[in-house]
Amino acid sequence: MTRIAIFASGSGSNAERITTYFADKESVIIEMFLSNNPTAGVIERGRRLGIPTVLFDKKTFSKTNKIVDLLQNQQIGLVILAGFLWLIPENLVKAFPNKIINIHPALLPKYGGKGMWGHFVHEAVVEAGEKESGITIHFVNEHYDEGKVIFQAKCGLVSTDTPADVARKVQALEHIHFPEVLEKIIATI
Ligand code: GRF
Repeated sequence: MTRIAIFASGSGSNAERITTYFADKESVIIEMFLSNNPTAGVIERGRRLGIPTVLFDKKTFSKTNKIVDLLQNQQIGLVILAGFLWLIPENLVKAFPNKIINIHPALLPKYGGKGMWGHFVHEAVVEAGEKESGITIHFVNEHYDEGKVIFQAKCGLVSTDTPADVARKVQALEHIHFPEVLEKIIATI
């Protein structure tokens, strides 16, 4: 049995997709959503899906061991970042070595790092005239978007694509691949 915690700062469409994907799989439980953002869409999704959702502030997250304690008390085996914007503090990385996984909406190492999230990523991709973009699923370390890459998938872009078009193409890839890649990782835990 693998218990999963999903961190999200925004809409939470990936968190929902992962939850529904694993709903009928007995070896995986989506134990909780966690968010730093009281107005994030993920909170309403958690309510609708019946997933307990924990809100926390910056100090609790970065300067105390409360979140690590919570995850360990709930026997969380895998932590998923699905649109979570804060840097993961060292105590959390150390408590879950190779057990924290992030999805990034571009082909790392391009378009990663601090400040490269959401629409900023897609704007930079369009601005650079890229012919393709995609997703990167990777392990998390103490640096933004630098952990070992687990999986990438690409989508083609055309010159008329706007950042919103790129976002749609990338999100479609996320919803297809993220749950499946997680299932493969869980099988090895
Ligand atoms: C996704 O594009 C993900 O790659 C990025 O943040 C976005 C989250 O979208 N890290 P959602 O909140 O799951 O809809």
